[in-house]
Amino acid sequence: MNAFAGGNFIMSTPRHYFITTALPYANGVFHVGHITEYIQADIFVRHTRMQLNENDTLYFVGADDVHGAAIMVKAESEGTTPKALVAKIAATRPKCLNGFLISFDHWHSTDSPENVALSQDVYRRLKANGLIDRKTIEQFYDPVKNMFLPDRFIKGECPRCHAQDQYGDACEQCSAVYSPTELIHPRSTLSGATPVLKQSEHFFFRLSDPQCIDFLREWTQKDRLQEEVVNKINEWLGDQDGKSAIIDWDISRDAPYFGIEIPDAPGKYFYVWLDAPIGYLASLKACLAKDNIALEDYLSRDHLNQIHFIGKDIIYFHTLFWPAMMRFAGSPYHVPDKICVHGFITFSGEKMSKSRGTGINPERYLDLNLNPEWLRYYLAAKLNDKIEDIDFNPDDFVARVNSDLIGKFVNIGSRAAPFIKKYFANALSDRFDHVDIVGKVKSEADTLAAQFNRRQFSAAVRKIMELADAVNTYWDQEAPWALAKRFDALTDEERAHLHTVCSATLECFRLLTLYLKPILPRLAADVERFLNIAPLKAKDAAACLPARHLIRDYEHLMARIDPKQIDRLLEPPADPAPQKKQNPSDAVPALPPITIEDFAKMDLRVGKIVDAVAVEGSDKLIRLTVDLNEDQPRTIFAGIKKAFKPEDLIGRLTPVVANLAPRKMKFGVSEGMVLAASEPEGGIYLFTPDQGAKPGMKIK
Ligand code: 2FM
Ligand code: ZN
Repeated sequence: MNAFAGGNFIMSTPRHYFITTALPYANGVFHVGHITEYIQADIFVRHTRMQLNENDTLYFVGADDVHGAAIMVKAESEGTTPKALVAKIAATRPKCLNGFLISFDHWHSTDSPENVALSQDVYRRLKANGLIDRKTIEQFYDPVKNMFLPDRFIKGECPRCHAQDQYGDACEQCSAVYSPTELIHPRSTLSGATPVLKQSEHFFFRLSDPQCIDFLREWTQKDRLQEEVVNKINEWLGDQDGKSAIIDWDISRDAPYFGIEIPDAPGKYFYVWLDAPIGYLASLKACLAKDNIALEDYLSRDHLNQIHFIGKDIIYFHTLFWPAMMRFAGSPYHVPDKICVHGFITFSGEKMSKSRGTGINPERYLDLNLNPEWLRYYLAAKLNDKIEDIDFNPDDFVARVNSDLIGKFVNIGSRAAPFIKKYFANALSDRFDHVDIVGKVKSEADTLAAQFNRRQFSAAVRKIMELADAVNTYWDQEAPWALAKRFDALTDEERAHLHTVCSATLECFRLLTLYLKPILPRLAADVERFLNIAPLKAKDAAACLPARHLIRDYEHLMARIDPKQIDRLLEPPADPAPQKKQNPSDAVPALPPITIEDFAKMDLRVGKIVDAVAVEGSDKLIRLTVDLNEDQPRTIFAGIKKAFKPEDLIGRLTPVVANLAPRKMKFGVSEGMVLAASEPEGGIYLFTPDQGAKPGMKIK
């Protein structure tokens, strides 16, 4: 069916679209990966909106994904609460969403009453259907922070290749996947403490249940997923007859946790990945409320298309847990109809890195007043329906925008308009729809609509630029400027021909604008104003500008990129507080070298702090009682009061200079020295030996 040309829609069956993008974690501002996904989804949404009939609906919604341990930890490190942190991040969203012309109908938060109610409802339904289990599991617990540790907050030595400093779930050196309890010398990245194993009851969604596996096998085989995704899922699901590798999904976390409480389970919260996708529904519910539509009513409608745009890193959650949750929560919940997966965006072939300052910062792009449609066009020219990564290359960016978008497309309007104004008082000719070039541009409407429907934007842009080339060639071959030069001497026929050439060219410009409108909505609105027409819809591809139609004066539509603007965009971000770079050797004057014999004179031992008391009358000192496995523990005065509470020190192991001559101080005799790193104005950092070290052990 010709979606651009319209005409054939079945009027009696309204279609409904519920479209989402992945919900970004609210612990940071948008990066270019987010914006790329939003632009991809927005192009699809705008294309689909252009095809809607009167009773069709489309809701495009997003939200912040605010729960989970990472956000708690980030809030703590900023000395704030999770709620305050996510509110601060939420306030940054409109600038980028509006700036890049992303047409969400609503933006919500997973920390919302709608999401609490929906998450608890889905859970209760899964439970009633026998798909929730309780199991006691053993997990690492941080005895200093008093919390269970997510895998990503545990580091240690890889149990396979023995690489140091590897995360609790997988090794970045050898790619081994393991459980955090297998790590050698594990430590909490939050406190540095050695985690201890602690038991706790957890709730599981029984994804391995045969009814879930059977459902997923069936759900996967419909036209909902890209081929690469289906292959991946089939690997996870295993053979039809064989056993699947799917295991039950741990959906609970223990307090303290920033999340949604599990009904009838005090101290238990939903794991963030349970309530995150339900956040899609919470956002839709809040959006529908503005139109007085109930979520249950909307989800139950016939011909509802629930479409999710996501990155390739979160396929598992969206193709296994999410559809199964919706299926077994039951009506009116709706299983996703399409999951559109994209790859990552790289910068000149490399991963974008904030710390190295490579890549594009979306806020900076807008602050420099760069045109958002340049980026939308460039990304569209690269995006397709595959999962492959796409690359941003600065030279390619400038070339495609300047040569193609402006040199080929915008140029068409700016070439023809002055002739229509000067010689024909801005009125088009009597007839121009019969001209071959108009027919040629019009004839691609079906192909282009199909490409937009399939998210093959790069192919669509290529075709549109081929058509723009053909229109420019037509213009050059007709050379209307040669006729215009002797306008007063032209025959009626020649004048009519000049008029037709210019009018046909503008009709082609209208059609090309219609095709590009999902990508360039602002430019399209400017062209609609210039051509003096109503907002273009898909069906307008089958029509033509009317005979003798009056247009408006042409105004400059889009500037070219000055490569200097890109240089500024790519300058490394200015350091907010430039400081003279210190290297350790010039921060503290170096001492003359010592021999190994000099060093051996020092008796360094592991000490255990068994008691610690703030010294009254001193603003620096804590009196430590330190066990060095001698007959008597020692008293050591340490100038660490500003950095530690005495009670936090009790139980810690620390290196001690054991043969320092006793020193009589105002408050008593100090019988040694504990070692710490420090900065003149900054913190004080004690050292902790690896697990297994005992009081009295010699350090050498
Ligand atoms: O990976 C992420 O950034 C998640 N915040 C995506 C969540 S998508 C949906 F499930 F909410
Ligand atoms: Zn390894």
